[in-house]
This record gives sequence, C-alpha cells and structure tokens, in this order.
Amino acid sequence: MKRLIISLTAIGIACALSFGQSSREKWTAPARAAAKKNPVTVNDTSIALGKKIYERQCLACHGAEGRGDGPVAAHLEKRPGNLSSPELWEQSDGALFWKVNEGHRPMPTFKRIMSDEERWPVINYVRTLAPKPAALYQPKRESKP
Ligand code: HEC
Repeated sequence: MKRLIISLTAIGIACALSFGQSSREKWTAPARAAAKKNPVTVNDTSIALGKKIYERQCLACHGAEGRGDGPVAAHLEKRPGNLSSPELWEQSDGALFWKVNEGHRPMPTFKRIMSDEERWPVINYVRTLAPKPAALYQPKRESKP
C-alpha cells in the first residue's frame, strides 16, 4: 500500500512538472489565422487610431514603448510580450491579430472587448513599435541550420 502511494505521488509530481512545462511553451497562432490579411491600410489615420486604443487597452501591461514594462507588468504572473523587438516581425499581422483576439492569460480576450475596426488599427500601431529587421529584406534563406 505504502509503495502504491509513493508511486502515485511520483506520477502526480511528474504530471505537475510536465504541465508546468507545457504552459511555458511558446504561444503561437494557428496557421490559418496567421494567413489572414490585414484589411486596414497602414497610414497616419489608422496608426493614430491604433495608438489611441493601445494607450487605453494595452499600455498598462505592455508599456508606452511596447517593451513589456507597463505600470502593472510587475504584478502579472507572466511578463507581457515585448512588442518592440524586431523578432515580432517573424509573425504576420494575422498572427498578431489572432493573439489580440484570443488573449492568453493574463492577457485578456480582446474580441469580446473591441470590434475588428479597432483591433486591426492597433496592429498597425504595434508595428511602429518594433524596428523592422534587415534580414526580412534579404532573399529567403535556403534552409535553417
Ligand atoms: C493584463 C495585461 C495585458 C494587456 C492589457 C494586454 N496584454 Fe498583450 N500580453 C500580455 C502577456 C502577459 C503576454 C504574454 C502571453 C504569453 O506569452 O503567454 C502578452 C502577449 C502579447 C502579444 C504576443 C507577443 C509575442 O511575442 O508573440 C501581443 C501581440 C500582444 N500581447 C498585444 C497586445 C495588445 C495589442 C494589447 C491591447 C489591445 C494587449 N496586448 C493588452 C499582457 C497583456
């Protein structure tokens, strides 16, 4: 009996550990969502609207420059994504839109909070926070190392 309890405990710990690991996995948008095209033209008007919405809905966590250092960031269970990193360009507008729509605890599900007409301009604004990596202008690499 004692043995059984010990092995059950071991299984429990193993499960808890692997669960902890999977919840730390990178958050990725599904391919279909990532392929979605941004219907809102990138121009001064959409960027200015996006900025206004960003300041109201996103800045508290992501910070004025998108570095993930907003006033409430330190109190969250997880660090907000760094929206000012060139790595953000590895994701399509569709992928970012999906993430804003769905949210990921503690980030809220914005499709319940804002309309499409508000969420796409936010993506246009978020793009201005991250410098475009030069690599994206180079021809596609043959293969990854
Ligand atoms: C309550 C805090 C909070 C608010 C408000 C919030 N976010 Fe987030 N955001 C997060 C956290 C935490 C993550 C990291 C989630 C993860 O990786 O699991 C994140 C991740 C992201 C990502 C993914 C970054 C990446 O590297 O893939 C994007 C894009 C994003 N947020 C955009 C926004 C936008 C745009 C808004 C406003 C409309 C917003 N967030 C509002 C906390 C927040």
